[in-house]
Amino acid sequence: MRLIDLVKKPDIYTKNQCNFWDDTYISQNMLNAHLNSSWDAASRNFDFIDQSVEWISQNAPLGRYKKILDLGCGPGLYSERLNKRGYFVTGIDFSKRSIDYARKQNFTNTYLYQNYLEIDYENEYDLVLLIYCDYAVLSPVERKLLLQKILRALKKGGKLIFDVFTPARYEGKKETMSWSINEEGGFWNPRPYISIEAHYIYDNHVHLDQHAIIDEEDNGCVYRIWDTAFTKDMILKEIEPIGYSQIDFYSDVSGNPFREEFETMCIVLEK
Ligand SMILES: C[S@@+](CC[C@H](N)C(=O)[O-])C[C@H]1O[C@@H](n2cnc3c(N)ncnc32)[C@H](O)[C@@H]1O
Repeated sequence: MRLIDLVKKPDIYTKNQCNFWDDTYISQNMLNAHLNSSWDAASRNFDFIDQSVEWISQNAPLGRYKKILDLGCGPGLYSERLNKRGYFVTGIDFSKRSIDYARKQNFTNTYLYQNYLEIDYENEYDLVLLIYCDYAVLSPVERKLLLQKILRALKKGGKLIFDVFTPARYEGKKETMSWSINEEGGFWNPRPYISIEAHYIYDNHVHLDQHAIIDEEDNGCVYRIWDTAFTKDMILKEIEPIGYSQIDFYSDVSGNPFREEFETMCIVLEK
């Protein structure tokens, strides 16, 4: 691949040619990031997750919402805690390493190595979770598909809880590009590599963090992390046509009241 194609601003929602969540090497670094109890990286810090699980179990009490589907469950940090409270959780993730880890921690939950855009359930779950702003990495077509599939997967009266970043997270953020040499290898590759990092901004609050990695044989890989920063109105516009019956907003997945200036927003939908 030509260098210019590795680093230029891509068309909106251009896919990765290189997979990072399920890459054998990178997924180990991702797992370490998930399991770092004080770091808000691949998962939030464990204090937040504990508060979040407490709030989820108040919002969706065990007596009524026993069966949970945890989409993008990672190594099962939420699923495991919820199972300890008595819920039955099916966790889905397309990182084999995370799913293997989750299975070793807990034999009662079900963990599936699968793309959650391909789920096919009908009236099976009381509660669906999609946590740590994963909804907004998807394209509009994928988001619509996922919301429809989740609605179908939920039982009547069941809930979906998910979160997104808001424009407050990107306030003052500009397009940037920088590069570095990693002579000892690093997060993206165990061998020496050059990394060219860019932040690109598109219309309608769409952002891209792009990592172009060039190894010592001059092979290039581009990792793209898309994110749409959602306002309440943008979320309402997407959700209303799908057919959920109730929509509630919070500032985060631990139930903080909604405030526009918060960097995240949590949405609770009911079927
Ligand atoms: C930001 S992490 C959040 C993990 C977990 N929800 C948490 O908060 O601890 C996103 C997770 O979603 C998974 N993921 C992303 N897209 C996915 C997809 N289309 N299908 C299945 N898993 C996906 C990744 O492998 C990763 O484990």
